[in-house]
Amino acid sequence: MRLSCVIDDRTGSRDGSRIVHKASGNFLSEHGISLLIETSGGKRVLMDTGSSEKAFSHNLELLGLGPDDLDLVFITHGHYDHLGALPMLLREGVPCHTHPLTFQGKRFFDAPGKRRDIGPSQELLSLLEEFPPEYDDRPRELVPGVWTSGEIRRGNRFERPVHFTVDRDGEEEEDIIIEEQALCVSTRKGLLVLTGCGHAGVVNILSQIRRRSDRKLHMVAGGFHLVNAPPSTLLKTMDGLKKIGVEKVAPMHCTGFEATKMFSDRFPGFELMGTGCYIDL
Ligand SMILES: [Fe+2]
Ligand SMILES: [Fe+2]
Repeated sequence: MRLSCVIDDRTGSRDGSRIVHKASGNFLSEHGISLLIETSGGKRVLMDTGSSEKAFSHNLELLGLGPDDLDLVFITHGHYDHLGALPMLLREGVPCHTHPLTFQGKRFFDAPGKRRDIGPSQELLSLLEEFPPEYDDRPRELVPGVWTSGEIRRGNRFERPVHFTVDRDGEEEEDIIIEEQALCVSTRKGLLVLTGCGHAGVVNILSQIRRRSDRKLHMVAGGFHLVNAPPSTLLKTMDGLKKIGVEKVAPMHCTGFEATKMFSDRFPGFELMGTGCYIDL
């Protein structure tokens, strides 16, 4: 199978490792993530869609693909930087799968003095009525060899999201982004786990996958949401992944520079991936 990065916060380079390659072309990067899985059985599953249609469409074309080539799109959670090209994909008839709470309520990033709306656009909410997604909060096989994690159990105290609120039915409350799910892909080298933002906690996510499967955990790739995390949290995260038996990590998107550097320095299986990069597993 092939994992391609359609959108990330930073563009990848050619001088990566032996396993990360870069497709040719001038890719556009932006805050957000979109990862494409091409299975050995010929299916194409997209996870998340970046934050704009412009960058997504440009990059997908550079990969030699269009919306018609996608079998389905899976949305990890309801933040704008994962939903940018979803209106276009819905109009093009690409089936969408997500958790029942992904598009429910008004979502805010709520750090003091920095409150802002980070939920879906009105355009997307209207389109969802016309093109309703398949909703499921349990693990589900989307195509042969690609499963959703199901809702993630929050088993530890150090991976709790901060500064997020949600307004459901006029009541504002702390948002732990309960809808966030990951994808799990079967590869020849073991399981590949893909995270959107990782608000559920990358250790919580991998622990859940480990409880459901005893296959080797080859790699976790995607957003780990460790921006502004204290060094103690970064160390607990790294130790947690090692204890679960994760061999490789490719932190992207909202992982943050400090955390990415620490993984690079201390995690033996670190891989640097960005927009336009691909890995064959
Ligand atoms: Fe994100
Ligand atoms: Fe997010």
